Amino acid sequence: MLEQRRSDGSLRHLITLADLSRAEIQSLLDHSARYVSDAGARPPSNRSLNGITIANMFTEPSTRTRVSFELAGRRLGADVLNIEVQLSSRAKGESMLDTIRTLEAMHIDVLVIRDSEPGVIEEVARDVAPHVSVLSGGEAHVSHPTQGLLDALTITQRKGADFSRLTVALVGDIRHSRVARSAYEVLTALGVGQLRLIGPAEMMPPPEEFPGCRRFHAPEDGLAQADVVMMLRIQKERMLEASIPDGAEYFARFGLTAPRLKLAKADAIVMHPGPMNRGIEISSEVADGPQSVIRAQVRNGVAVRMAVLETVARPRRLGV
Ligand code: NCD
Repeated sequence: MLEQRRSDGSLRHLITLADLSRAEIQSLLDHSARYVSDAGARPPSNRSLNGITIANMFTEPSTRTRVSFELAGRRLGADVLNIEVQLSSRAKGESMLDTIRTLEAMHIDVLVIRDSEPGVIEEVARDVAPHVSVLSGGEAHVSHPTQGLLDALTITQRKGADFSRLTVALVGDIRHSRVARSAYEVLTALGVGQLRLIGPAEMMPPPEEFPGCRRFHAPEDGLAQADVVMMLRIQKERMLEASIPDGAEYFARFGLTAPRLKLAKADAIVMHPGPMNRGIEISSEVADGPQSVIRAQVRNGVAVRMAVLETVARPRRLGV
């Protein structure tokens, strides 16, 4: 596994949450909380990353993640570029390394990468100059660390910091979901009481993944007494054409409707990383209803990315 820290122990890259301690995660969440603002309020900003240049390189579609990294960088005074690139096997070898060398020559300090091929982000991180940080904006089905952090922050805001009392249900296409894997890592590190996986057999992860989680094949069984219901998007782009489920049938069996949500605790919160398929994973009534924290997740995304950018890039700014 790639070492994400510098020799002084400070975080240089963020590609996975798997090797972060509870204290490191807690400190990132506390840092993020300082950048959360109410809807409609003037968002917090400062110049702490003035002179730092961040390049977003997303080779898979993204709205929330890319825009929030961009806003996060700008609100800390950094220069932010969005670069069209090919990094994966689609354009491997020389061209990927050339791209990195070119960006280094232009004094880029932070690369934020989303890619559909496992391992590419880590490969870039191994190759970059020592002063450059690499952040994952989502790696294939493997990991989405800033999403994991923003999900944990959202849960903390509504349910408090003691995760040991909480039952969290992940519902839907867990097998192909990087959001679910990062949620597992962060919730486990924070000592979550119970983590449940609910989905059809073909969307369940292999048995060796998600150790310690209880598995259910019907929401009617798995949602009982849940404090947090985290819905996942069906990752059609990671499935064979033939295995993509029929939308109406899926909604009938697994879609989160108001009657189904009643199975969870009365004060349960509903999460979804977006983009939502309304009427397939979730009804509009629930997505826009009083238990939904989906907009708060998006807002928290900017705060988390500010904290992560500041954590990895500030030592560079200070010339350490
Ligand atoms: C997710 C992603 O791309 O991993 N979206 C996001 O980052 N908010 C979830 C998804 O696409 O299903």
